Amino acid sequence: MLAEATRFEEECLTALARASDGAAMEAWRTRVLGGSGALKSLMARLREVPKAEKPAIGQRLNEMKLRLEAAYGARLAEVGRAASTGPTIDITEPGIPPPDGRRHVLMRTIDEIVEVFGRMGFSVAEGPEVEDEWHNFTALNIPEGHPARDATDNFYMGEDAGARRLLRTQTSTVQIRALERQKPPLRIIATGRVYRPDTHDATHYSMFHQIEGLYVDRGVTMVDLKSTLFHFARAYFGAEAEVRMRPSFFPFTEPSAEVDMKMQVKGEWKWVELGGCGMVDPNVLRAVGVDPEQWTGFAFGLGIERIAMRRYGISDIRWLFENDARFLRQF
Ligand code: FA5
Repeated sequence: MLAEATRFEEECLTALARASDGAAMEAWRTRVLGGSGALKSLMARLREVPKAEKPAIGQRLNEMKLRLEAAYGARLAEVGRAASTGPTIDITEPGIPPPDGRRHVLMRTIDEIVEVFGRMGFSVAEGPEVEDEWHNFTALNIPEGHPARDATDNFYMGEDAGARRLLRTQTSTVQIRALERQKPPLRIIATGRVYRPDTHDATHYSMFHQIEGLYVDRGVTMVDLKSTLFHFARAYFGAEAEVRMRPSFFPFTEPSAEVDMKMQVKGEWKWVELGGCGMVDPNVLRAVGVDPEQWTGFAFGLGIERIAMRRYGISDIRWLFENDARFLRQF
């Protein structure tokens, strides 16, 4: 039995010398010194030893146990030192900064537009995105049965106390809200989201943003409208901006025009429609209790995505809404 014990001790010490990390040390400890480890079973066999030899062998086994425990403690310290001297972390490294958040390019464009019109004396007005038919259509001279009210061209949201509600299709609703709150003279802009069931392509989306302008005073003319829009275009896009106005039709303005701007779409320079404008129709002024004999005004509504695309060289509107950080990081 003593010979066996000596061989066992040698084997254990060799294995211990090979253990080189925490996991191997723990495995060794469990196998050799653990509650149901090899040393325990060896000690248990003391029972089989003849009574006369028991004290001597018992003492030798106890000594062996102490040696193995001491060897384990020493090796553990060694392995621990080796682990802590390795190049685990270099605290002089500069580190990896978390990526910066930033304002979305559309929000930045809105801030910039508001700033330019602010310098021209326009203050900011607001209106809700969920509207009633009065503000989205009726007060804007769009009568019952007009095709602009079709269910296929609007997101209707059900009724509230008998009145149909819808997501506004244009910020022109804020013309009415502003004139209900404040009588002329007034000069406001309103920016915000509008919704239309349009098919997505490079220049169309089903949710987009518009900026509305409204100026009502005595003696306002089409000349004021044109100079305001052209001044905005040159101030925001630079002196070389190419803008044009084309006769058009809107129920809430008379005469009406469309504003186009030269833009690069998919690598090609084209005239792209920025928005509509015109002289506020007398019926609109009457709907909000303003006398069209005394007051005249102009209004315009421009697509903000189109403005951002021209300003920042973005050739597809869909990129603005895909939230791809590689795209957004550029602005
Ligand atoms: C209007 O919405 C009128 N309310 C504009 C107006 C205001 C006229 C005041 C007169 C007086 P229109 O439907 O053309 O007009 O839209 C205006 C602009 O919104 C367009 O020229 C375009 O720049 C932008 N737009 C329209 N549909 C989309 C769309 N699906 N995706 C992105 N931009 C769009």
